[in-house]
Amino acid sequence: MYGMINRAVKGLAVDRYGAETWARIRVLAKVDEVEFLSMEQYPDELTYRLVAASSEVLGVPADQVLQAFGEYWIEYTAEAGYGEIMRAAGRSLPEFLANLDQLHTRIRFGMPQLRPPSFSVTEAEDGTLLLRYVSEREGLAPLVVGLVKGLARKFGESAEVELVAPRTKDRPFDEFRIVRTAIVGTA
Ligand code: HEM
Repeated sequence: MYGMINRAVKGLAVDRYGAETWARIRVLAKVDEVEFLSMEQYPDELTYRLVAASSEVLGVPADQVLQAFGEYWIEYTAEAGYGEIMRAAGRSLPEFLANLDQLHTRIRFGMPQLRPPSFSVTEAEDGTLLLRYVSEREGLAPLVVGLVKGLARKFGESAEVELVAPRTKDRPFDEFRIVRTAIVGTA
């Protein structure tokens, strides 16, 4: 994956837990790089090692690390030069989710080796959203939970996100139910 991902993993650890904790994570993960270059390719496996080491050092399950990273990513990208792309992707949560593939297509102009996920969304009659997520990578469903929660917050909402149908061999996508529970600050 592009180094931007690992930079953000580091950013989250340093911002929340300090440079010393990050150093312990990096050493445990056997990662030599002190800095990551946003536009360089790194093996996916390095990122997975950072997640596993974060989980161990912080004493929280890896799923929670991924979820926290997803929420962080929404703020990180907006501040890392992608604010305009984020703004252009939609003015509501359903609109934004429907435009996710287009968003990654735009990012691919600057990152030609990007191997992005693919999403589709439908709105049920009761307003619940169903999100399907296709990925060539394993184990990232908790990341999607955090990303969607972060997006909801960006729109002044709060959302419950549940993986209702994990992918199988015959059904190659994870399906999430998104219940938008509260509108924050817009009474
Ligand atoms: C402007 C903002 C964004 C940028 C710059 C960005 C960029 C990236 C990059 C660099 C990767 C790693 C893939 C690779 O290097 O091959 C990635 C993966 C991913 N992105 Fe985005 N992204 C953005 C927004 C989002 C949003 C809002 C979501 C919300 C669902 C999202 C969902 C994902 C997921 C789930 C992956 C994991 C890859 C996989 O499943 O294979 N991204 N993105």
